[in-house]
Amino acid sequence: MEDFKKCSDAAFCNRLMGSVDEGYMIDPASVKIAGSKLLCRVKNAEIPEVDLELTLTSYGSFIRLHVNEDASKGRFQVPGVLQKELTESESAWETSKAAAGYALLKLGSADIRLKYKPLELTVDIAGKPAIVFNGRHMFNFEHLRQKKEGDPEGWWEETFKSHVDSKPRGPEAISFDLTFPGFNHVYGIPEHATSLSLKSTVDLAENMTSEPYRLYNLDVFEYMADSPFGLYGSIPFMWAHRLGATVGAFWLNAAEMFIDVGKTDKETATNWVAESGVLDLFLLLGPSPHQVSEQYALVTGPSALPQYFALGYHQCRWNYRDEADVREVDANFDKFDIPYDVIWLDIEHTDGKRYFTWDQHLFPNPAKLQEDVAEHGRKMVTIIDPHIKRDPSYYIYQEAEKGKYFVADKDGKDFDGWCWPGSSSYLDMLNPAVREWWAGQFSLAKYKGSTPSLYVWNDMNEPSVFNGPEITMPKDNLHFGNVEHRALHNQNGQLFHLATAMGLEERGRAVYGSDGDRPFVLSRAFFAGSQTVGPIWTGDNTADWDHLRVSLSMIMSVGLAGLPFNGADVGGFFGNVDAELQTRWNQLATFYPFFRGHAHLDAKRREPWLFGDEATRRIRDAIRQRYILLPYIYTQFRHANTSGLPVMRPLWFDFPEEPATFAVDDEFMLGPALLAAPVLEAGAQSRAVYLPGAGPWYDAQTGALVKPDKAGALSVPVTMDDVPSYLRGGHIIPLRERARRSTAAAKNDPYTLLVTLDNKGQASGDLYLDDGSSFAYKRGMYAHRVFEYKDSALSSKALPGSPSRYGTDLVIERIIIVGLKHKAASYAAKNKETGQRYTVEKGPVAQKAGVAQEALIVRKPDLPVAGDWSLQISVTK
Ligand code: NOJ
Repeated sequence: MEDFKKCSDAAFCNRLMGSVDEGYMIDPASVKIAGSKLLCRVKNAEIPEVDLELTLTSYGSFIRLHVNEDASKGRFQVPGVLQKELTESESAWETSKAAAGYALLKLGSADIRLKYKPLELTVDIAGKPAIVFNGRHMFNFEHLRQKKEGDPEGWWEETFKSHVDSKPRGPEAISFDLTFPGFNHVYGIPEHATSLSLKSTVDLAENMTSEPYRLYNLDVFEYMADSPFGLYGSIPFMWAHRLGATVGAFWLNAAEMFIDVGKTDKETATNWVAESGVLDLFLLLGPSPHQVSEQYALVTGPSALPQYFALGYHQCRWNYRDEADVREVDANFDKFDIPYDVIWLDIEHTDGKRYFTWDQHLFPNPAKLQEDVAEHGRKMVTIIDPHIKRDPSYYIYQEAEKGKYFVADKDGKDFDGWCWPGSSSYLDMLNPAVREWWAGQFSLAKYKGSTPSLYVWNDMNEPSVFNGPEITMPKDNLHFGNVEHRALHNQNGQLFHLATAMGLEERGRAVYGSDGDRPFVLSRAFFAGSQTVGPIWTGDNTADWDHLRVSLSMIMSVGLAGLPFNGADVGGFFGNVDAELQTRWNQLATFYPFFRGHAHLDAKRREPWLFGDEATRRIRDAIRQRYILLPYIYTQFRHANTSGLPVMRPLWFDFPEEPATFAVDDEFMLGPALLAAPVLEAGAQSRAVYLPGAGPWYDAQTGALVKPDKAGALSVPVTMDDVPSYLRGGHIIPLRERARRSTAAAKNDPYTLLVTLDNKGQASGDLYLDDGSSFAYKRGMYAHRVFEYKDSALSSKALPGSPSRYGTDLVIERIIIVGLKHKAASYAAKNKETGQRYTVEKGPVAQKAGVAQEALIVRKPDLPVAGDWSLQISVTK
């Protein structure tokens, strides 16, 4: 960890973290109202050079506070993240209170008050204070200045280890405090390996501090399972939740950032410091968790709809040695009857880490290999990293050098850094022309040996520079438009991810025509807005139980930050995993939004069949369970795509009124209907489970009604076969139960509806359907069905407003109903429109030996999955 800075090692954090200045005030004479905007100037009597432009804009459900110096000073503003169609609200600012020193705005249930002296912004929700900006006077804005004799140390040059940062622009940091009165829990601001509800880093009562949370994209070797240190990605978006209100704060700023969190019984007080850029703060007013997600998606965009195959199981390792190895692994999945969708090739497949090339000896016929893998509908992924080997005979290097596409060092020469290929240059993805050129490299003609079933993995894009400060790029490097790397750093990886996805999108249109092919690009680095590009994973974790456990909080935090498609390396990247941990990890990852097994070069082989028969069976069951759930999971991704909802999420997201859920991070919800309480300890004989809400809850393995104590707690005995997971009463979950070798093989399979009744004997749910691969859904080629169970009848209708233009002959082959109160001896089912009758049996909820016959099963109703119908269930005896 000594490779990485603490707050005290960073001059800007040292200067501004905790620093108070009461001098910042709004010049009342400067206040102007323009519709939903309030514009004014901020001054500081002690610092005459301070003359800032503040704009406060209201958008109905969120507000934006923007503060900058004169634009001619050229402070960096993050491009490409904000959605273009932000609609400003119609409510106008009221300045009649100017004499009393403030302006007011009413937005729904929120009252917003901008106080002039000292500058302070408060948001009340339903009459109660919810967010206070600068209530503790920690707002500081270091104006750009000329160097002078006697300037304090650390302003113009700073050294860490042997690395000197020349800092030619001098001090330019920004800080502020945000207090959440009445809130004891804040979340988000990934990426950290830590608890879901963020721990205090400052003990306000005791005056003790730990390190603040750091947001600085870094390649951290063997990261710890509990630490506020920054990892590969950064999203400066914090949530606060209390009974009756959920709010969010998003700072659009890509520079290095530190955030302190301090809690008392009464409030959570936070202090944010970034090294450069501008203040561009969005306060999301909720007041429910779903609304905060929706508001964030309005600001930065909803997440891209993944291809259906991408939600299947992925098999990776560093490295599958050669073509024979890949073929054998592929064949073994069939031999052991385990479904999978994608096989991955890490860096060793290339010719000397020159991406887009193949090692001629190991992979002489890559296209044929992909075609053979694709025969069973499976895909392949190759890794393409951002460091380009400085080899004049390598075509990518040649073209990039000629085009002047590389990031420059502080003296204007192509930056030379060390990574896998040795001496490397780094593409400057801030330049749109470079992104376009890069995208072109993915055409089938350019990328030799690639086929339409090949997708991409972007790694090391923080960027990782082995000989750089903190294993990354020097901050005084220069990008397009003379932008210092310092200002852009946390967005660097996202731009690379974006350019790669653009490439696959272009390839898709070239191959398939205008509906194209949705890109699949996994990235390690990420930033706000990465959800619109593709999935990320949590990097180089370790094969131990602590990393298994912390993966839950990490995945949920990234999901809350608007990026639902993410997962952790199953099995743990570093080290060797034993059969027990590997089994438990796969059982948990059944519910990860992104499910990939991966391992380090030095780790022992760990494909699912290598841990003995028992473990193979259990891992097969876990992966099959994933495939059974895919229609439900895909539907959750559609909700992420339209409303920004996280897929794997904290209990409080669905049970916001229940304080006992607020800190739970060893259980989670997958969508609204499924709760998982995975086994996270070695040798566990039982698992303590908390079930929120009034219930009922049903055991997902048996369909049996689960009876927690009054407080919602229960202790469940577990064997290695058990994966404690629960179905929430009142929901209808679409499934596909037939065991297949891949998603492609299941393409024409019928569906099952699993109905879990609530206490009133009712349930509802939905199913999203489209071709699973192209962009045709954007022109209405999809069906979104809504199912309802009421008065003993199950009906299917189109979601209001959905076009239902996706034609399919597929049917529902089984309906499983759990939770019927009257336990009659026999039942019948009748189609209300056609009068047709179907057999109804009692049976187990899952096709598994030894499971109680708790459910009612309608066999072979063969109802159209995308059609309207209604089915009456009645008691016959
Ligand atoms: C680091 C990545 O995090 C890891 O997943 C990968 O296997 C290695 N780089 C080699 O490419």
